[in-house]
Amino acid sequence: MDRTVVLITGCSSGIGLHLATRLASDPSRSFKVYATFRDLSTQGPLWEAAESRGCPPGSLETLQLDVQDADSVAAARARVTEGCVDVLGEPPQNACQSLPCPVSKPRCPEAQGASGVPQGQRAVREARGDRPLLAVCNAGRGLLGPLEVHSADAVGSVLDVNLVGTVRVLQAFLPDMKRRHSGRILVTGSMGGLMGIPFNDVYCASKFAIEGLCESLAIQLLPFGVHVSLIECGPVRTAFQEKFQMGRGVVLDNVDAQTRNLFSQYLRHSKQVFREQGQDPEEVAEVFLTAMRDPRPALRYFSSEGILPLVRLRLSDPSGCSYVAAMHRIGFSDKPAHGPDGAGTEAGAGTGGP
Ligand SMILES: NC(=O)c1ccc[n+]([C@@H]2O[C@H](COP(=O)([O-])OP(=O)(O)OC[C@H]3O[C@@H](n4cnc5c(N)ncnc54)[C@H](OP(=O)(O)O)[C@@H]3O)[C@@H](O)[C@H]2O)c1
Repeated sequence: MDRTVVLITGCSSGIGLHLATRLASDPSRSFKVYATFRDLSTQGPLWEAAESRGCPPGSLETLQLDVQDADSVAAARARVTEGCVDVLGEPPQNACQSLPCPVSKPRCPEAQGASGVPQGQRAVREARGDRPLLAVCNAGRGLLGPLEVHSADAVGSVLDVNLVGTVRVLQAFLPDMKRRHSGRILVTGSMGGLMGIPFNDVYCASKFAIEGLCESLAIQLLPFGVHVSLIECGPVRTAFQEKFQMGRGVVLDNVDAQTRNLFSQYLRHSKQVFREQGQDPEEVAEVFLTAMRDPRPALRYFSSEGILPLVRLRLSDPSGCSYVAAMHRIGFSDKPAHGPDGAGTEAGAGTGGP
């Protein structure tokens, strides 16, 4: 059986790491996963997880891919879609040493030929490029704080990673998928792409843009048999908040007192929402799997039912007034996000973002 080849961006931690190891260890043995990293020195936790999950040899390979660098995206695409033979002309004896494969030899299942398929044969089969291909655009960055404290560089960097980075990956993979009339794109979406969240303005702008990008593409790709799906996540317990572009240590000295006060209220609320409602990335990985196996792929899948009431509330009043008022009540309340009279119960979810 040909395995589905899956490339995932942003696998150093969180959703990407969990998804990569979940797919590679799937009992069906039907996935070949290329887990990619902005910085390959951060791949240790992935291999630890792969070991503890018992990912079989040949199921997982790591590659460098910085979504901000078009050359690195192109190199990863070449490695994944063309296979060893297309690059070197002959099935290499030591693929991972001669190709830009960053995995040290003992850890690279391809180099070990441990899958039971002779390495040359496997390389030839992979080079045909006729296997189902799936790209998961997951890499992302947050930016938290009052808008006026963000530098233009910080804003540009978040938009570059979250939006332009996704475009770079899609531009690299779509032509091949269209030519083959097969392929799937999955993108890690966010409730921050479906509704505004206070103090996450730039992050939300990037994720709203992703919604427009994916929805537009989904329409025009229909005749090509290529499907685009967003996995819409509410709060997920990952390293995301630790890696915020400016972190929580934003300098608020020049910000007015009322905004500072609102910001600290929001931070308290957000912390509580993550504590009480934050999902485990493993649950999110299962939603990805459901989407991947769906014979009639939808544009949107929701990682949790919890965000749906807010989504519906927002759509029910196109003027936006109901949503803005509700979100203000929820986001700046010190009451529990869920509780007998807790803010958030009216809409069913807290707004901790991102
Ligand atoms: N956690 C949540 O509550 C939540 C909710 C909704 C949506 N999301 C979305 O889920 C996705 C994954 O986030 P996460 O929660 O799993 O957080 P995470 O653990 O911080 O993972 C983010 C990943 O993106 C990578 N990344 C950042 N810049 C990159 C670049 N230029 N090129 C390639 N990779 C890059 C990071 O790599 P480095 O470690 O090298 O920086 C990291 O591997 C993001 O798109 C995020 O917007 C998260």
